[in-house]
Amino acid sequence: MNKKERSAALVSEYAALIRCPVCGGDMHVDSLASLTCSTNHAFDFAKQGYVNMLNKPVTTQYDQALFKNRRDFILESGFYEKMHEAVVDIMHRLDTDDMTVLDAGSGEGSHMERILAKVEGKHIGFGIDIAKEGILIAAKNYPDSIWFVGDLANLPLKDGSCDVILNILSPANYSEFNRAIKPGGIVIKVVPQSGYLGELREALYRDTDKAEYDNAGTVSLFEENFEVLERVQVKEKVMLDRTSLANLIHMSPLAWNHEAGELDDFISEERPVTIDLEILVGRSVISV
Ligand SMILES: C[S@@+](CC[C@H](N)C(=O)[O-])C[C@H]1O[C@@H](n2cnc3c(N)ncnc32)[C@H](O)[C@@H]1O
Ligand SMILES: [Zn+2]
Repeated sequence: MNKKERSAALVSEYAALIRCPVCGGDMHVDSLASLTCSTNHAFDFAKQGYVNMLNKPVTTQYDQALFKNRRDFILESGFYEKMHEAVVDIMHRLDTDDMTVLDAGSGEGSHMERILAKVEGKHIGFGIDIAKEGILIAAKNYPDSIWFVGDLANLPLKDGSCDVILNILSPANYSEFNRAIKPGGIVIKVVPQSGYLGELREALYRDTDKAEYDNAGTVSLFEENFEVLERVQVKEKVMLDRTSLANLIHMSPLAWNHEAGELDDFISEERPVTIDLEILVGRSVISV
């Protein structure tokens, strides 16, 4: 079997969880080549093994080079290790030994991959992102999970299909999350706090108001939509070498719209950079 057929075989095992993004109908895998619904909306597997479930192409500001930098940074810098560990601990508290996990806004997939590598028990991961460039890299590298180009405002997953929805540094759609989560399931949202990448923001913006994140609005919207079970802070300074610093500035939307060379000083020698994240854990408001 080639890569595409192997992915199609994996998806066919979990087809019962997938819904058509056009009509909401049931889907099945056809000839190890496409996902097709009962009214014949068909979505082909790409050769890398992902499926594009968007009705029309979307152009985003995220290109392949950015996702490659994100991948290298997440895998090599150790910057997000504490966050991954904290998420794994939260997932273990669910006490489910057969977990369906969705990463909504997965990018190139390395956060979910790192997290699932540490999660005990049987599990399957679905990664969904609107940027094809990210999903393509994810599918190439992580064939044990299922990767869809799709819109988190119209998830191609059935009502009550997910035990865990991860939403890491990405936009959210809480009515979709509430629809797709199992009763008793949890949403784990990772949001930046005021100190997050403070050293980079200081180098870029100095006196302007972009120098701090304010996540009060994000937190209160989350609280309106879920019963909040936990709020976990991950805050530390991590020493980054020059390679990781270079990956950081190229992966971060913060550094967009800045002149090449403006950050040469920032990446000229290793330096500590602050990770300051809050992990919001919410339970579905639908009663168990
Ligand atoms: C800052 S990136 C974070 C990606 C990944 N979670 C990470 O931390 O590396 C935000 C991601 O949200 C995705 N995104 C934005 N709007 C989306 C939508 N409507 N549906 C799915 N993904 C979306 C972008 O394509 C991008 O990959
Ligand atoms: Zn359909």
